[in-house]
Amino acid sequence: MVDVAIAPALCDQRVSIDLSVDVGGLKLRGPVMAASGTFGYGTEVPLLERLALGAMVSKGIFLRPRAGSRPPRIVETPSGMLNAIGLQGPGVDGLISDYAPQWAQWDFPVLVNINGESADEYGELASRLDGVPGIAGFEINISCPNVEQGGLYFGNDPRAAAAVTEAVRKRTDLPVWVKLTPMVTDIGVIARACEAAGADALCAVNTFVGMSIDLNARQPRLSFRTGGLSGPAIRPLAVHLAHQAARAVSIPVVGIGGIMRGDDALEFLIAGCAAVQVGTATFVNPRAIAQVHDGIAAYLVSHGLGSLVELPRYLPKD
Ligand SMILES: Cc1cc2nc3c(=O)[nH]c(=O)nc-3n(C[C@H](O)[C@H](O)[C@H](O)COP(=O)(O)O)c2cc1C
Repeated sequence: MVDVAIAPALCDQRVSIDLSVDVGGLKLRGPVMAASGTFGYGTEVPLLERLALGAMVSKGIFLRPRAGSRPPRIVETPSGMLNAIGLQGPGVDGLISDYAPQWAQWDFPVLVNINGESADEYGELASRLDGVPGIAGFEINISCPNVEQGGLYFGNDPRAAAAVTEAVRKRTDLPVWVKLTPMVTDIGVIARACEAAGADALCAVNTFVGMSIDLNARQPRLSFRTGGLSGPAIRPLAVHLAHQAARAVSIPVVGIGGIMRGDDALEFLIAGCAAVQVGTATFVNPRAIAQVHDGIAAYLVSHGLGSLVELPRYLPKD
């Protein structure tokens, strides 16, 4: 049992409750993580926010630097947003020189969201980053809808998903998590393929492909035409998919999609997830991660549970 600070950003109350979780090879002090692409590299985020973080997943990178898509890259939609950033990033050398040294000073783990156009590229990226101080693990992105090459292709096909997972697994002993796309007929098939190929955990889910039309211009609002839909609009879909993934495998599943408050995170946790990631919420409420963390703690306290592990899960294996 550890003494956890509740709502460091909101009040100074301390409650004796254990929010720590073991997820895919990492021991986290809490179940709430920052989702890839919505927290940058963590360097601009106030210290208070970082106190509530179980872990952070960095913006997705490729081996080489990328400029991403042309603007407009973000459009607000009912209860959500569409983004087509196009995986802008500094590439592996920039990540190692500019960000990893900062992460090495932090008291929570940082996973790098890795991307490639072939299984070999994913493997090479993992081997370049393996052993770099500050990098605690990998989240393999086989689910980005906003790139021309790779992206969704790997996440749609169980053989391709397994090949990428295996290519990374062979190059590192660090935890390997695989981020699944919701754009599939049966997420359980992909989940099992990644588990069999050596994944330590799965993250469910990435964004759904969507489109929004500008009525005056009579063309898509995003320069990439389509974008990834995120936010509360996708939450019930995401809870269902995360639940299906959790039922399909024995490795932990991290729930993602439209989490704004502690209660939203608890839906994923009760549906069988070991932990959660918060993304879009941070765009509208910079305190979102701390509030989700505190909301989970408050629920456990008010239901007489002393730790997250004691939370009953709804996970029928029929
Ligand atoms: C602006 C933006 C950028 C994102 N970039 C990435 C990325 O680089 N890699 C990735 O795997 N997911 C990326 N995502 C997806 C999120 O990590 C998350 O899976 C998704 O937004 C659903 O969660 P949410 O509804 O809490 O935002 C991005 C999402 C947004 C909104």
